Amino acid sequence: MSRKSSGFVPTMGALHEGHLTLMRQARSENDIVIVSIFVNPTQFNDAVDLEKYPRTFERDCELLKNAQIDALFAPDADEIYPTPMDTIIDVPLLSKGLIGKLRPGHFQGMASVVTKLLNIAQADRAYFGEKDYQQLAIIKRMVFDLNIPSEIIGVPIVREADGLAMSSRNMRLSSKERAAAPIIYKTMERALNKHTLGETSVNALIEFITDEISAEPLATIKSIDIVDAENLQPMTIINRPAALLLNVQFGDVILIDQSII
Ligand code: PAF
Repeated sequence: MSRKSSGFVPTMGALHEGHLTLMRQARSENDIVIVSIFVNPTQFNDAVDLEKYPRTFERDCELLKNAQIDALFAPDADEIYPTPMDTIIDVPLLSKGLIGKLRPGHFQGMASVVTKLLNIAQADRAYFGEKDYQQLAIIKRMVFDLNIPSEIIGVPIVREADGLAMSSRNMRLSSKERAAAPIIYKTMERALNKHTLGETSVNALIEFITDEISAEPLATIKSIDIVDAENLQPMTIINRPAALLLNVQFGDVILIDQSII
C-alpha cells in the first residue's frame, strides 16, 4: 500500500473563511488533513492582546465538522510548554523590521511554536495565509535553514465583499470600526493603480497611502512599508517585485493587509 500524504493547517482558532480556504487547499492536495487550534501565548508581546484574542472553540468545532478534515489537534498550553522553553527560534534578518519592530518578540514566539507544531504534525505540506506576509517569509526561511521536511504553501488572502481581509481579529471591531476598515483595501488598490500608471517612488506611494488613511478618523496608522518582496529589506524605487505591507489600528485592534507590487 502506498504511503498517504498529509497536509497541516496550524491556526489559533476563531476560524473564518480564510482558514477554511487553507483547509480546502490542503484537502485537494493531500490524503489526510490535520488542523491545529492553539492560541500560542509566547507570540503575544502584549498581555491584553492575548487575553482579548477571540476564543470560539465550540463554534470552530462546528465549522470543522463540514470542513472534511481528518484530525484536530487542540492542545493546552501545558502540553505544548510542559516547562518554559529554553530554545528560541529566531530568524533575525526577516524578523527584526516591520511588524517585528511593532511587536518585539512576536516572531520568535511564532517561529518557535510553528517549529514545534511542524515537528508534531510531521506533515508533507503545511498551509499559511499570505495575509501574514512577514510571518510566511520567516516560516519559509526557517524551514529551509533547519531542513524541516514539510513543504510550506502560501495561500492568497480571502476578502470580505467590501475588500476587508478576513482575520480572526475582525470580530473584535465595533460596527463603526468594521464599516471604516475597508479603507485599508481601497487605499491599497488606489496606490497599486498609481504604480500601474507609472509611480515608482516608494516615498510618494507611502505619502499617498498615509494621506488617504489618515483622513479616516477611526484609523490610526501603525506602519506602512514597501519592501523587497524576497528579503523584506527597504527599497526606494520599485524596480523589482515589492511587498506593500500595512498595519492600521481601529480601536484596540491592529489589522494587517498586504499586496505584491
Ligand atoms: O497565523 C497564525 O494563526 C499563527 O501565527 C500560527 C501560524 C498558527 C502560529 O501560532
